[in-house]
Amino acid sequence: MEFSIKSGAPEQQRTGCVVVGVFEPSKLSAAGIALDRAAHGYIGKILKSGDLRGKTGHTLLLHNVPRVAAGRVLLVGLGKESDFGERQFRTAVHHAVHTLDQTGISEATLCLSAPVKTRDNAWHVSQAVTVASDAVYRFDRMKSKHDDRQSGLRHLGLLATGNADARNVATALKQGMAIAQGVNLAKDLGNLPANVCTPSYLAQTARALAKEHKLAVRVLDRKDMQKLGMGSLLSVARGSVEPPKLIVIQYQGTGSKQKPVALVGKGVTFDTGGISLKPAPEMDEMKFDMCGAASVLGTLKAIAMLKLPINVVGVIPATENMPSSTATKPGDIVTSMSGQTVEILNTDAEGRLILCDALTYVERFEPQAVVDIATLTGACVIALGHVASGLFANEDALAQELLSAGQVSHDRAWHLPLWEDYQDQLKSNFADFANIGGRPAGSVTAACFLSRFTRKFKWAHLDIAGTAWKSGKDKGSTGRPVPLLTQFLINRATRT
Ligand code: BES
Ligand code: MN
Ligand code: ZN
Repeated sequence: MEFSIKSGAPEQQRTGCVVVGVFEPSKLSAAGIALDRAAHGYIGKILKSGDLRGKTGHTLLLHNVPRVAAGRVLLVGLGKESDFGERQFRTAVHHAVHTLDQTGISEATLCLSAPVKTRDNAWHVSQAVTVASDAVYRFDRMKSKHDDRQSGLRHLGLLATGNADARNVATALKQGMAIAQGVNLAKDLGNLPANVCTPSYLAQTARALAKEHKLAVRVLDRKDMQKLGMGSLLSVARGSVEPPKLIVIQYQGTGSKQKPVALVGKGVTFDTGGISLKPAPEMDEMKFDMCGAASVLGTLKAIAMLKLPINVVGVIPATENMPSSTATKPGDIVTSMSGQTVEILNTDAEGRLILCDALTYVERFEPQAVVDIATLTGACVIALGHVASGLFANEDALAQELLSAGQVSHDRAWHLPLWEDYQDQLKSNFADFANIGGRPAGSVTAACFLSRFTRKFKWAHLDIAGTAWKSGKDKGSTGRPVPLLTQFLINRATRT
């Protein structure tokens, strides 16, 4: 979908539809009042009849409103003015855009100027773009008959009003569009089935992305990993005939002397659990176990589109986790690239086993900071549900940066502890440590495991098990945490 910034009065917008907000109970927003004045009270009369109270996200479509240039007016509920905040703004935009898309209007203008008091025009613009893009996203590549996008919403104008700073608003539009593109790439990769989206497919996607945006890419195969001593990563790949890949993709947005930020994404293209086999119900959702990897590629796409002045290296360990006669068995002990030995007590705790070698590998880039992103633990879903990603870090300043990037982009994370006290749970009688720490604090002990491979740099870990995809009737990848990561890099690139 295309986006642009519009100016002028709401009643003068020449477009298929103008969208204005209505607070509960039936109270027009500023843009709505302007329309109603032009229409000599026509809209107010309709609201008095009780057709739209203004509950958040409820909509009412009006045709041929007198003296309004647009063919239609879409009223969208914003809820009670006193309760109005970021969540209500996002819900209203989502419902409005979804309605427009379903109605077959190809072009519309949103007149929802800066209603969230604590946020400026620029924030509203980038949020509107990412939310609108999310509302019209469809994944039909695997259907024999594709939905024709001919009938949907193709262009959305955003009316910036008042004392909008034109430069900031234009930047916000670009950032919103880049984030939306990155999110769409991550969603597509997540939604593809595991028989299509294999480690080799992820590598091909990285190569195509590199070509499109002039990035450097290198793909290591099983032999290369053997040479590097990645015994932990390889122990996960053992059970599958699909060849594992370690994808390294580099974006140089500034002088080569600046140390890069490293993004490390878990790329398990299907997680059966291995010999510690998962139960059958909902196992299909383990095709989403590469969403960390997808978020790395999506974020690289976004920052390359923005030409951010920063250096970033993405590292993706990609493999399937399958049971077979060659698969790793519970009790097997492997030697990681770091030299530390691991007793694999549960082959389903495979994410940490592939990440630890990728984390040791990134030492060679002398990164200024490392962030890994992984659908790592079911325990994280129990702790935080589907709202916040779990955040762990070995440095508080880095944790704070990520938390605030999540707040601004509304792709939020919550800081969880990484105290020494939890490390005891990883004790092994036979190796340096085990790959599981029992049921208590499962997300924390997973992070503790990773922390043993990240002592040489500033590091943060995002557990996205609850946020990377949705289950049920809306099953599908969310593209999270591309908005958080992109915002984090925007902030790092522009701070002086
Ligand atoms: N990919 C899963 C984590 C997961 C499970 C994410 C369910 C989202 C929904 C991961 O590889 C895994 O299986 N983790 C185990 C770890 C356990 C064996 C210590 C888990 O969470 O059950
Ligand atoms: Mn697993
Ligand atoms: Zn997994």
